[in-house]
Amino acid sequence: MSGHGAPIPMTSHPCGALTGTAEVPGDKSISHRALILGAMAVGETHITGLLEGQDVLDTAAAMRAFGADVRQIGPGEWRVHGVGVGGFGEPDQVIDFGNSGTGARLVMGCMASSPITVTFTGDASLRSRPMARITDPIALFGAQSFGRTGGRLPMTIIGAANPVPVRYTVPMPSAQVKSAVLLAGLNAPGQTVVIEKEATRDHTERMLAGFGADISVEATYEGRVITLTGQPELKPQSVAVPRDPSSAAFPVCAALIVEGSDITVPGVSQNTTRNGIYTTLLEMGADIAFENEREEGGEPVADLRVKFSSLKGVEVPPERAASMIDEYPVLSVVASFATGKTVMRGVKELRVKESDRIDAMARGLQACGVTIEEDQDMLTVHGQGPGGVRGGATCATHLDHRIAMSFLLLGMAAKTPVSIDDCGPVATSFPVFEPLMADLGARLERDVK
Ligand code: S3P
Repeated sequence: MSGHGAPIPMTSHPCGALTGTAEVPGDKSISHRALILGAMAVGETHITGLLEGQDVLDTAAAMRAFGADVRQIGPGEWRVHGVGVGGFGEPDQVIDFGNSGTGARLVMGCMASSPITVTFTGDASLRSRPMARITDPIALFGAQSFGRTGGRLPMTIIGAANPVPVRYTVPMPSAQVKSAVLLAGLNAPGQTVVIEKEATRDHTERMLAGFGADISVEATYEGRVITLTGQPELKPQSVAVPRDPSSAAFPVCAALIVEGSDITVPGVSQNTTRNGIYTTLLEMGADIAFENEREEGGEPVADLRVKFSSLKGVEVPPERAASMIDEYPVLSVVASFATGKTVMRGVKELRVKESDRIDAMARGLQACGVTIEEDQDMLTVHGQGPGGVRGGATCATHLDHRIAMSFLLLGMAAKTPVSIDDCGPVATSFPVFEPLMADLGARLERDVK
């Protein structure tokens, strides 16, 4: 969906202790990949726990436009009848990815080695994001791209009729780019090799192996070397999507900063390519117990028992950035209630997310009375101590769900309410955020004029 309705301003009022259980929805990264690989398998894939946020629904619509039969059969339960690797048909309409960089970039990859022409667009946020990081590597397979200046959407891609396999070193830490190249490699004959210097989330590699592709990962002096043999017949799977650790971070962080809180967040993934936020929170002195550690849907998970904590500022090392890249906005809120400063380095990728997240957080936190330092690749938050943040401002969210949810958390623990200009984008990744947080005790109010 391109754009969304009129902005919905929301105010988060300071609240009492948060208590209860927060069952967060399915993982967004895994949900996109389950639909895409299901569409590229021969036969019927069954998915449970799918995140039904707008981003994932847009990927489902794209797979339908390419010829796959994609249906919801119950809440979170979906069936995908795939067309096989190389079986995509040409959509007869523009593919609109709304707010979703992951959906757009992964799907650009998976169509790049098929002889079809596809035009992509998205909302104002997605239309401003760099796509050369995808069009450069897919050109090596033989795909041609015609976008706006700076490689932005709208963009038309003509997939390669005779794709060749590639060897590609991903220039920035990006699971989207790695995954796009691997998905393009699926329909190229021979071996496609992707090298990443820093490990990023590994859901694509895990799921490709699960769907029967011949894929291997080797740790070398160059980094992680991933080798995929093209043109496999992917076998349909049953995919149980685990809960999203990035969404779980919101109730977890809310409980840490709202005095007296004690909550449980069950089934949170502890995949080491995703759990950097939990490592950081523990270093800050967070009271988080990891209970019932087990495996669910092929991922290590635990139930998190989280209590309000007196936190201290920390230095977050740059090499941890990839494993918590989506959690810096909420970490900067937590850091505002810590004692001492929190320094986050190696975070320049935050500038090209749904918004420039360094800038968006710095502006909003400053407006709420928090002292911030920033440069191109770093954000420092000077903590005001437990309950010490003034609040009392309206923060701009720039069509960014994680910025919106982060400032709503700030309001829960600040001295005065915090408002945001638009809570609409929250539905892209966490459609039940509002009722889930309200059940725990948050006081969120839509501002109706
Ligand atoms: C994602 C990768 C990350 C992350 C995004 C989801 C994925 O983006 O920020 O929310 O599912 O592959 P980058 O690849 O741009 O780091």
